[in-house]
Parts: sequence; structure tokens; C-alpha cells
Amino acid sequence: MKLTTLAILAGGTVLLASCATGTGDPRAEALAMMDRDFHARGIASKDRLKEDAVMAACNKYNDNPPADVVARLQKEQLATIRYPADGKLLGDWKAGEKVAQNGRGMAWSDKGGVGGSCYNCHQIGPATTSFGTVGPSLYQFAKMRGFGTDIQRYAYGKIYNSKAFNLCSQMPRFGHVQALTEQQMKDITALLMDPASPVNQ
Ligand code: HEC
Repeated sequence: MKLTTLAILAGGTVLLASCATGTGDPRAEALAMMDRDFHARGIASKDRLKEDAVMAACNKYNDNPPADVVARLQKEQLATIRYPADGKLLGDWKAGEKVAQNGRGMAWSDKGGVGGSCYNCHQIGPATTSFGTVGPSLYQFAKMRGFGTDIQRYAYGKIYNSKAFNLCSQMPRFGHVQALTEQQMKDITALLMDPASPVNQ
């Protein structure tokens, strides 16, 4: 009963949208609907509805753009990464663990720079019993990948801008969109890379 009602409601919304815009282009209609219904509040401004070149390419090609587009855009994304000016990629893993396990972040009522919500998509350490599996497990990350500065740099860069390494990644670009501060990204990099961190036990 409930499902039927939902289906009718959903159908009604689509119908209304096509009447309202009348373009016959489902993508344009969906964008117009979002623009009409999204109410800017707090840190959630209408900017969130704008696609950048990466999102546009991934949407257009169903997350599988041609190789030349991927190569060009990944190069551009790589160039956005700002590595710490002091050259130190590792902060405090204990502080990093708090950020990684904190799911608050970019909601309109947040102030920004709060949590990384890594556990929503990744297993982090053996003590975490509840985690998402959208991304690969990060347990024993450095133990398996190596503790060297090249992997430290990769981990920091991946957190800063995941799409520089995998264009249509589902992982947020934490540094690029300023969801996390440099110190928070250093702390999380330490969580992944420090031999004493629970990740590497
Ligand atoms: C919305 C889901 C999501 C969130 C949140 C997320 N990730 Fe990811 N992450 C992914 C996915 C999916 C992949 C695999 C695809 C790829 O490489 O981009 C990935 C890949 C990675 C990798 C590369 C792993 C490897 O073996 O090369 C690292 C490192 C990583 N994530 C760290 C983090 C950290 C640290 C956080 C929190 C600051 C985080 N992720 C938050 C989805 C997420």
C-alpha cells in the first residue's frame, strides 16, 4: 500500500516536472527540478548543484569516459592537490582516528571541517565493527602497501582529491572541496601510515 502510494507520488512528480519545463529532456528536467527544490541553508549553498568538468564527464559517460578524457581530467585534478608546505605528511593518528570515525561534515547545520566519515565506506581498524563497504578495507593499508614516502604521498593525495587517481571515484574530494583542513588530512594520513596506528596492527 505504502509502496503504491510512493510510486504514484513519484510518477506525479515526474509528470509535473515535464509539464513545468516541457523540454522533453529528462536530464534538463531533473536539473531544473533540483534547482527549484534545493533551498540554500547554512554552508549548503546552491553551488552544490553545479557540476564541475569531472562530474559532467562522469555523468555524461556513465562513470566510464574515454581514456583521453580521463587522462586530461585526472592530470587537472592532480594539479589541484596542495601538499603541506612544511613537507610533513603525517600528523597524529589518534586525532586522525577521531576524524575518520566522525560522520558529521557538510550538512547545512555543520560549520565545515568536522568529520571525514571514512568509516561510512571503509573498514579502518579491527576494532570497528560497523562500517560501509563501498570502498576497499583500509585495514593494514601501509602494512600491505609499504610505509615509504611515496605511499604517504599517495594516501595524502587520495584524501585530498580522490578523483586525481580514479576520475569517477565515489570517494569525496576532502581537500579539494575544503571539507577537511590540512591538519586533519595529515592526521588521517598518519592513521593509515603510522606503524603504531591500529590500522597497521
Ligand atoms: C562515499 C564513500 C567514501 C568515503 C566517505 C571515503 N572513501 Fe575512500 N574510497 C572510496 C572508494 C569507492 C574507493 C575505491 C575507488 C577509488 O580508488 O577511488 C576508495 C579508495 C580509497 C583509498 C585508496 C585505497 C587503495 O588501496 O589504493 C584510500 C587510501 C581511501 N579511500 C581513504 C579514505 C579516507 C582516509 C577517507 C576519509 C577521510 C575515505 N577514504 C572516505 C569511497 C569512500
